Amino acid sequence: MKAGIKVNRQQEIGIIDERLYSSFLEHMGRAVYEGVYEPSHKTSDGEGFRQDVSTLCQALKIPMIRYPGGNFVSGYEWQDGIGPKEQRPVRLELAWQSIETNQFGLHEFMNWCQKIGSQAMMAVNLGTRGISEARNLLEYCNFSSGTYWSDLRRKNGQEEPFAIKTWCLGNEMDGPWQIGHKTAEEYGRLAEETAKVMKLVDPTIELVVCGSSFREMPTYGEWEQTVLRHTYEHVDYLSLHQYYGNQEDDIGKYLARAVEMSQFIQEVTDICDQIQKEKQSDKQMMLSFDEWNIWYHTLESDKEQALWQEAPPLLQDIYTFEDALLLGSMLITLLKHADRVKIACLAQLVNVIAPIMTEKEGPAWKQTIYYPFQQVSHYGRGVALATELAVDHYVVEGIGEIPFVDSVTVYQPDDQTLTIFAINRHQTSAMEVELVVEEFVVEGVMGSSELAGYDLKAINTKDQQRVVPCEVENYYLEGQSLQLTLAPLSWNVIRLK
Ligand code: AHR
Repeated sequence: MKAGIKVNRQQEIGIIDERLYSSFLEHMGRAVYEGVYEPSHKTSDGEGFRQDVSTLCQALKIPMIRYPGGNFVSGYEWQDGIGPKEQRPVRLELAWQSIETNQFGLHEFMNWCQKIGSQAMMAVNLGTRGISEARNLLEYCNFSSGTYWSDLRRKNGQEEPFAIKTWCLGNEMDGPWQIGHKTAEEYGRLAEETAKVMKLVDPTIELVVCGSSFREMPTYGEWEQTVLRHTYEHVDYLSLHQYYGNQEDDIGKYLARAVEMSQFIQEVTDICDQIQKEKQSDKQMMLSFDEWNIWYHTLESDKEQALWQEAPPLLQDIYTFEDALLLGSMLITLLKHADRVKIACLAQLVNVIAPIMTEKEGPAWKQTIYYPFQQVSHYGRGVALATELAVDHYVVEGIGEIPFVDSVTVYQPDDQTLTIFAINRHQTSAMEVELVVEEFVVEGVMGSSELAGYDLKAINTKDQQRVVPCEVENYYLEGQSLQLTLAPLSWNVIRLK
């Protein structure tokens, strides 16, 4: 089959905020304990951080990590995680019904972030706690010295403020499962007042207010409107969360989820713009897609997990080749909305629905989804360019027309290169693509990588990295026109200079 892709260097979607490649570390499952922190592990450093895990995280170039939850944050007492470790309380953790030892807390997280070269995105508890605790935590983290909370931080070994810029006002407060779940009205008011107080403490911070937990929530839409009517002038981002799965084992429908994700982003963008108009505000609300990923492999089996374990093996989805294809497509979607989505957190990072897995006392290893995320995080920085597609489509009920090829191009000003990310969703046919580049002189192809040809259910394991991208010569360059062959069901990264 044939397709056309046209890119013009001057037709920009927008500058890509590098925080599009952020991630998420929640106190749940084996994410923290046995994940990033395992003092007895042979690779652990003096602070108990597994260096094999840190190395895999560094290689993803993650600019920012959301912490400490997730559902966890809505019952969390952040003071439990500071001060001498031997004095920290062991608690019942109610969100995941686990035991929390608090051996890893705020300081450990901040030190670990520094080691792997990431910033923190801190969430405050608006479930069981409120305005006062949010201000105390912010003062502890960001105020220099001379007050109770800032001096306590210094006493606990951190002389300089942590200077955390980005803060989440709670987590998924629309969800009945959330500890301290609220109506839109209740949350809107609380978020408004908390935002005001936090910005009094530190006017330089940025705030993310909770949108819906997912698009199918019964209150979706109304929730966003109500919350924004209260908070519009006090916050900087509205959050989106969404996880996808292939429970129906229908690859065509599964790969269409990236189009559904795009529709979701567009709807939320439209709601923000509607409220901007209502408020006659100059401010354009930006989006923080601070939980996105694939989550379905363990939904049933996790129900069998015993309660009240320390570091229970929860949400340990093992990802397949088809999951990696969808993950790449979702990254294309995020880039296509780079004008409004400024933050996106792949949820999560280690062991819990994660690109990185660890064995207790054993190795750390990369899941299939690690690779497309790594490639886009490396090459998807700069300016997202509008990419015109001429290609056939198929139809998925409830979503609409799904083009067989999806693609976006990124211009990297530093080295003046173009990177084309493309997916071929066709199950049997290779796609002969004519790629035309305008307003950019193509001198050559720097590389072309493909993830293709695997069994849809192929996985990686601790012993074998089977599903990995390969360099291929699937192109022919003639002047400004590049002929590309995209294999059926393939994820592709082509770099031009
Ligand atoms: O990422 C796992 C969970 O998914 C988070 O704790 C919650 O915010 C979401 O429902």
